[in-house]
Amino acid sequence: MNSAETPAPYGTGSPTAANASPPSAARIRTHHLQAAKDEGRRFAMLTAYDQYAAEIFDGAGIEVLLIGDSAANNVLGHATTLPITLDEMILFSRAVTRGARRALVVADLPFGSYEVSPAQGVESSIRLMKEGLVHAVKMEGGKDYADTVRAIVRAGIPVMAHVGFTPQSEHSLGGYRVQGRGDAGRRVVEDAVALAEAGAFCVLMEMVPADVAAEVDKAVSVPTIGIGAGSATTGQVLVWQDMAGLRAGRQAKFVKQFADVRSVLTQAARAYGDEVRDGSFPGPDHSFQG
Ligand code: KIV
Repeated sequence: MNSAETPAPYGTGSPTAANASPPSAARIRTHHLQAAKDEGRRFAMLTAYDQYAAEIFDGAGIEVLLIGDSAANNVLGHATTLPITLDEMILFSRAVTRGARRALVVADLPFGSYEVSPAQGVESSIRLMKEGLVHAVKMEGGKDYADTVRAIVRAGIPVMAHVGFTPQSEHSLGGYRVQGRGDAGRRVVEDAVALAEAGAFCVLMEMVPADVAAEVDKAVSVPTIGIGAGSATTGQVLVWQDMAGLRAGRQAKFVKQFADVRSVLTQAARAYGDEVRDGSFPGPDHSFQG
């Protein structure tokens, strides 16, 4: 993506272990995503929860990295996204922002960190920005959360809205189900429009029919991102463990597996274990001589 950014008129600080990677001139900004929509280009987003995933995906040209609250299921082993805390999200965010030099890094506001009031949403977002060093936050919820989006944006924090299937509400939605079928499609469009009008820089849609997602993409001027929302959105996102085939078991219909990392790791672990047991590792090449 094109970047004609003026260098900061002040020092950006030197990178330290406690700092995120210094912004490069080519850092993806929210306006680059807007330009992609305006110019009919697409961009890719992947989740990342640690420094190596961030470094690899960033180096591979993925434009947006998401520290999803899906870290609850994909890293911490919970059954849902509900148990993950803001402190845990901040820890993962710090690792990802250290690894990403170019991508726009977005972190999820986890369940319980914004629902009480717009002020709670602002406070939690400030912590993700200040301690997690992310560049934007993502928030699940429909038009009822427009005031919260407005308040967070007023604080100078870019907000990505997340509508359609919102995993934090899976118990009230009755499980993992496509949202917006039939007449309910109107509600998805209304949610997206209200949140974009409240200042969201982007609208992410999860598990909505492709025609509804296409309608949303037409109805809002900001870029859209889909996961299980067809191909009309400006961007697409997948959980990296699904995309790379790390996770075992049944996959959602919208997942495409682009590699079989689980087999690669299994083979590596087996080969290592075999060599340790038969005494061939470590050999002279991997030993120090006196
Ligand atoms: O938490 C997450 O990974 C997400 C994506 C599925 C969009 O919200």
